[in-house]
Amino acid sequence: MTDPRSAVILAAGQGTRMASPTPKVLFDVCGLPAVVHVARAARDAGFDRLVVVVSAATGAMVGAALRSHGFDPTLVEQEPPRGTGHAVLCALPALPDGGRFVVLYGDGPLYSAETLRSLEAEHAARDAAETLLTAYLPDPTGYGRVVRASDGRVERIVEELDADEATRAILEVNTGIAMFETAAAREALAAITPDNAKKELYLTDAVAILAGRGAAVAGVACPDPAETASFNSIEELAAVRARMQATINAGHMRRGVDIVDPATAWIDADVTIGPGTRILPSTVIGRGVVVGPGCVVGPFAHLRGAARLEEGAEIGNFVEVKKSTLGPGAKAKHLTYLGDAEVGARANIGCGTITANYDGRHKHPTRIGERAFVGSGTVLIAPTELGDGATTGAGAVVRRNTRIGPGEIWVGVPARRLGPPAAPAANGPDDDGGGEAR
Ligand code: UD1
Ligand code: CA
Repeated sequence: MTDPRSAVILAAGQGTRMASPTPKVLFDVCGLPAVVHVARAARDAGFDRLVVVVSAATGAMVGAALRSHGFDPTLVEQEPPRGTGHAVLCALPALPDGGRFVVLYGDGPLYSAETLRSLEAEHAARDAAETLLTAYLPDPTGYGRVVRASDGRVERIVEELDADEATRAILEVNTGIAMFETAAAREALAAITPDNAKKELYLTDAVAILAGRGAAVAGVACPDPAETASFNSIEELAAVRARMQATINAGHMRRGVDIVDPATAWIDADVTIGPGTRILPSTVIGRGVVVGPGCVVGPFAHLRGAARLEEGAEIGNFVEVKKSTLGPGAKAKHLTYLGDAEVGARANIGCGTITANYDGRHKHPTRIGERAFVGSGTVLIAPTELGDGATTGAGAVVRRNTRIGPGEIWVGVPARRLGPPAAPAANGPDDDGGGEAR
């Protein structure tokens, strides 16, 4: 298809019920601003031009967020917002002449690219001027109702406030997502008027205008009505997040990740987890983290800042890993903070180890060699280096700029080298709480 295909994202709403200075569409949903999820779904469905309708107050922030996630949106200001039809009218001059566009809401981040593709397929198959995405909801309260003719064609949409009792009883609602032929939208929106309960310019009035002129208006039901949720309050945002989380977790489980309790596995978007890895309850994994195959994470673990676990690494109870890499088979199983650290293969990080990576101004790196054995309660003041097979004793405090050589044993406060170099020791058996220096 060579005709231009655009997405228009409506994001000029005030979001007053969020009771926050953060623009509503920039609230975080599983590691990404809501509007970025919307833009990604549009891009993944092949809508490569992005026009975002914003308010004067929030436009710059919304644009910056989208750009920082790789989008190049055209921002259109709608000031003051006078309804969804007005919002699309503001966007029309930024759209190319021919082709089609899809209307999306910046506060509705759950739509999948798949749903948008099926909307467009239906639109093309029916040769429609406009195709609505609808949903059958057991409780349609608050939504516009879809009124169909006896032959199934969509005749009009009636907003809740403008509906009589019979119309309110209709369970098929307008999700607000719609596909338009651009030329048809220009014609129809030129004719909308604000004579309705809210005195707004309704996008939904385009339906009756187009249908009245004999154009085809189609309606296709969203395969998964859960995708239609949007948010106006923090409570609704929490529900949207829960839904996004369930989708993310289901994807990992399909790829062979054993998530023991999906309800308490908080895994952001853009996290890679290898097959055969077990995620134990109450685990938080931030965007950009990569966990290899055959790892164990949790319970009560936190991985963030593009942390990386290689094959078979294990992160246990109350361990936080930030911007650190653990080599294959490395373990940190209890009460530990690893920040800006590089941990070699099969190293054992004892219970209560801390990389003191921050001196109050700067972050510094810690390097822990392969098969190193870090005793319980060790504090490694960064920058610091432990050679391969090196050992620290329980409670050691290793001063900054220390370089512990391969196989060396350091103990005490501040830590000092003990005895002659030893041959690198094999990793201990399963229990690894790390007790004393060996
Ligand atoms: C709209 C639909 C309704 C549908 C419902 C689904 C209209 C007239 N009604 O109603 O049929 O069932 O969505 O959620 O379209 N926005 C702007 N500028 C504006 C007004 C709104 O950018 O001037 C944005 C809002 O930020 C929001 C979206 O458009 O993201 C929808 O606006 P909202 O006021 O929530 O529409 P509803 O009244 O819920
Ligand atoms: Ca709404």
